[in-house]
Amino acid sequence: MSTPSNVRHGFLWGASTSPHQTEGANTNSDWWHLENDPASFISERSGDAVDSYRRYGEDMRLLAGAGLTAYRFGIEWARIEPNPGEFSQRELDHYRRMIDTAIGLGLTPVVTLHHFTSPLWFAAMGGWLNPDAVELFARYVRQATTILQDVEWVCTINEPNIVASMTALLRGGAPALDGRASVEAVTSLSLPTPDGEVADILTAAHRRAVEIVRANTSAKAGWTVAGQQFVVTPGNEEIFARTRWAWEDRFLEVSRVDDFIGVQAYTSQSVDENGIVAHPQHPDNTLSGWAYRPDALEMGLRHAWEITGGTPMLVTENGIATADDEVRIRYTEAALDGLAHAVADGLDVRGYLHWSAVDNYEWGHWGPTFGLIAVDRSTLERQPRPSLAWLGAHARACLKETI
Ligand code: BGC
Repeated sequence: MSTPSNVRHGFLWGASTSPHQTEGANTNSDWWHLENDPASFISERSGDAVDSYRRYGEDMRLLAGAGLTAYRFGIEWARIEPNPGEFSQRELDHYRRMIDTAIGLGLTPVVTLHHFTSPLWFAAMGGWLNPDAVELFARYVRQATTILQDVEWVCTINEPNIVASMTALLRGGAPALDGRASVEAVTSLSLPTPDGEVADILTAAHRRAVEIVRANTSAKAGWTVAGQQFVVTPGNEEIFARTRWAWEDRFLEVSRVDDFIGVQAYTSQSVDENGIVAHPQHPDNTLSGWAYRPDALEMGLRHAWEITGGTPMLVTENGIATADDEVRIRYTEAALDGLAHAVADGLDVRGYLHWSAVDNYEWGHWGPTFGLIAVDRSTLERQPRPSLAWLGAHARACLKETI
């Protein structure tokens, strides 16, 4: 078993999901629309997803029963604000019940306000490029905070760097891509450089959201950034620095004044004279086509720590798409060893949330299975994998040592 018994008291041990990937029937969202457009470049639809909109209690009970102490999930803007300025109390109540259920089970809720999806009406108005986008988002966040008063951790926007990159993809005429290429693109293998204009808008939206969360709740507020763990190849320092800034550092810098930064790390890629190098074919590549790199977590933590200048970190995502659960355990164990080394060197890491709690809709694709819990998509039955018990036992052992 790997080591982070050196983590601080109150360290969160948990798993993560997002609404669109798990809930099902997110019909009022831009992604639903994209998936269901006959001309869409998305190959598979989310449909009922894994029905966590109704089965969240079961998901949470499995996590808590295994020994985990935290659950990161999102609330869905498209459901909460189905029409501009019209808020659904019923949906707010639904998410409040999720928060209560988590707390009741001893799971600290870590709540994400925006995880890639937006209401269709917002997208139709130009999305983040609408001149009022920041205020429109702020209006939603104000309503959302009515159910978040006692939540301790709020993530404003998930992976703004991927959102900005997705916008660049859509601006560049995504439908020209065939199904497979687009899935790889969406899962960030071959996405274009994040759109700088959108990056600035997302930064402003995040700042407003942090302000609102701080004013209306006692939560710590931050955003979660996709770490790329870029590695320079000899002679390519300049393009490496430019690539890393555009993809990562400009987003990490924003977190200097936040309460925490969500670190998300899966793999690593090198940068050569042409930019980011695609993952070479290798038998160990994951089901999402990424190189098997459990060291990505330690790399991501160290880089975020350096660029933010010491903002507390929460690992909000780390995991692997694999059909072999032994490999998931091996990957996670090595990633946690890396986390332990970072903590031993004095980095302030507040928790580890594995991606993902359950198998879910991987943005256009059902193939890559990331879950600690398998889901049979025809019956929607949950089947915990050995990795869930493994992580839970690990959490329990570490918690015992830190008491
Ligand atoms: C996203 C998740 C996604 C995961 C694996 C992150 O980019 O936040 O929604 O499923 O990585 O690709």
